[in-house]
Amino acid sequence: MLTSRPRGTNDILPGEVGKWQFIEETMAKVCREYNFREIRTPIFEPTELFVRGVGEDTDIVDKEMYTFLDRGERSITLRPEGTAPVVRAYLENKLYAGPQPVKLYYTGPMFRYDRPQAGRYRQFHQLGVEVFGSHHPGIDAEVMAMAMDFYNRLGLKNMELHINSVGCPQCRPQVRERLQSYFRPRLDELCPNCQGRFDRNPLRIVDCKNSRCQEIGQEAPTTLDCLCDECRQHFDQVCHYLQILHVPYQIDNRLVRGLDYYTHTAFEIMALDIGAQSSVGGGGRYNGLIEECGGTSIPGIGYALGIERIILALDKQGIQIKESPGPDVFVALLSPDNKPKAFELIFKLRQAGISADQDYQNRSLKAQMKYAAKIGAGYTFFVGGDELKREAGILREMATGKQEEIPLNDVASRINEKLG
Ligand code: HAM
Repeated sequence: MLTSRPRGTNDILPGEVGKWQFIEETMAKVCREYNFREIRTPIFEPTELFVRGVGEDTDIVDKEMYTFLDRGERSITLRPEGTAPVVRAYLENKLYAGPQPVKLYYTGPMFRYDRPQAGRYRQFHQLGVEVFGSHHPGIDAEVMAMAMDFYNRLGLKNMELHINSVGCPQCRPQVRERLQSYFRPRLDELCPNCQGRFDRNPLRIVDCKNSRCQEIGQEAPTTLDCLCDECRQHFDQVCHYLQILHVPYQIDNRLVRGLDYYTHTAFEIMALDIGAQSSVGGGGRYNGLIEECGGTSIPGIGYALGIERIILALDKQGIQIKESPGPDVFVALLSPDNKPKAFELIFKLRQAGISADQDYQNRSLKAQMKYAAKIGAGYTFFVGGDELKREAGILREMATGKQEEIPLNDVASRINEKLG
């Protein structure tokens, strides 16, 4: 019986990989321009990192983690997100000892056990950035501008930046108190999850997907109503810097992110045309996370963008990305006896930086030509016949059918000339 891939995962086939490469290359370029450097961390981490980092009370930690005991009886979790691992790496490798801020980016698979649907998978891929060591509101604005700049470069339109401030430990007790007073009279009507959240983290009730909870929460006080002076000032400055950068944004006082580490700025980027899973990216400031993970009080901010959702948006908006091309040249044999010569030539072509391939199925000449066209070769070079006696062969441009005889020794340089 054929084994299928696990539910909620995808094979990224060669025909689609051009989009992935385009997205990843564009991100690498944008990151270079904004002076971010790449970091790569393990795909699994000690479970405790996410429990402490992301928060015990979040859906991710509560019900979505791929957690198992390894053979040494250690609790391991496939990373559900990239921020906590990058914080761990920053601390463990003492990156705080160098010049600050430290600006990092990463890309790779993340794992969450959620109910799969269009745009929501159990293995998905994120592009993320993190900045450690600066409180400056200009950094908040810059990372948001960078995300929007990235979507623009992909050619995406109608992306909305929603921003909020979720306060800090100073203003949280007030938010908590006001939310609890608001929800207390209707506590019985909330879903069982939210009844549990009422004491632990009432802010999460505002983010509940249950329609009844949403209805009850419609008039709930917001964090923006309760900000302390410092948070209010920071938020106003962030908005001011976004205006300087001409980045359009909407203030969304209902925006509560699904991870517990956020303080001050929280934001999400929505693509309105990709269905229910419309958040193509999100992030915010997390000034308490580094301390929570065992460091000193160092501020941080970042975001992550979901590659699968970006691809949904590209497809929906009809943005075509060039497929990865076929080989520059296909070397065809007039007779099987010419194989050794072709072998030698192909090796030389590859050494000269030309992508080249040949037939391995003993096809007839006609079938070789058909195959060359099917795999999208730019040129076919024929080896054999009288030309080979003269140490030459025929080069055919596939698009035009134009042919010319070229000495074997000159094939590489002539093809390179033609490829520019
Ligand atoms: P997040 O909002 O959980 O934030 O995820 C960021 C993005 O990843 C989402 O906006 C979405 O595009 C994509 N995503 C999340 N879950 C799935 C899924 N199941 N299937 C497909 N795509 C998904 C974080 O992960 C934070 N670490 C972001 C951050 C970085 N905050 C500060 N720094």
